[in-house]
Amino acid sequence: MQQYSDQMRCLDKTIAFVPTMGYLHEGQLSLIRKGRKIGDSLVVSIFVNPIQFAPGEDFENYPRDLERDLELARKNGTDVVFTPDDSKLYSSGFQTDVNLKELPNRLCGISRPTFFSGVATVVAKLFNIVKPHFAIFGQKDHQQIVVIRQMVSDLNFDIEIIGAETVREHDGLAMSSRNVYLTSEQRNSALCLYKSLQKAQALLSSGVNSPEKIIGSASEIIKSHKDTEIDYIAICDPQTLIDIKKIDRQALMALAVKVGKTRLIDNKILIP
Ligand code: PAJ
Repeated sequence: MQQYSDQMRCLDKTIAFVPTMGYLHEGQLSLIRKGRKIGDSLVVSIFVNPIQFAPGEDFENYPRDLERDLELARKNGTDVVFTPDDSKLYSSGFQTDVNLKELPNRLCGISRPTFFSGVATVVAKLFNIVKPHFAIFGQKDHQQIVVIRQMVSDLNFDIEIIGAETVREHDGLAMSSRNVYLTSEQRNSALCLYKSLQKAQALLSSGVNSPEKIIGSASEIIKSHKDTEIDYIAICDPQTLIDIKKIDRQALMALAVKVGKTRLIDNKILIP
């Protein structure tokens, strides 16, 4: 992989990179199509990164279908699919982590305290292996992009991070590889995330600018759906992820809800 990237760079070709954990859906494919337009060469990685899963999370059961992914990647214009083995990326004796001081203590990091270290570490490794000029990430994982941008700035990676909009099912559910875990009843309940975000913007547009009230309304919507358990609902500054007291500028509303055993996340920028 490094040799390929060196060759591309010698030829003055730009490399666009889309890191994924595979089981590709339209969300990740939209990133791949964006990458196709941005770089001369398009690299996609498929790697279910063990160190971003805590014990008891779904690493073993995470959906995988490499054959199907390779076909989808090819059809959408990928030049190289990089699919390393766990043991290649994490050889025995591996001992270096990338840790951010503050951003991982908020939102998803509260219930998944080791998650962002796992993500930052693997993305730093992938950046050093793929050597891209551009890397594309989905806004669906807003905190992930914020963490990656901070890491790129702090560690002087010479890479431009590009965000891509969340792709949704026809009824608004954000696409996710984990949606396959949902039964049809849970699939209905899962809509509570999108409905809460839509209602939040409607309330704000009608003049309600108190995060507390908007979060209260979201909480009611979620509780009215079967088999749901709120992990967090937050309204915060989109960059620092610190909670805000009044929505008098653009704010991020982010939430995580367990539907059955499946933890789903979604977010929206609220505009006063
Ligand atoms: P994964 O969940 O496979 O997602 C790969 C990329 O697709 C991420 O940038 C994610 O934000 C984006 N994505 C997922 N669902 C999306 C949707 N509905 N619309 C738009 N983009 C979407 O995120 C990861 O993998 C991993 O943490 C990774 C960055 C690869 C590190 O292991």
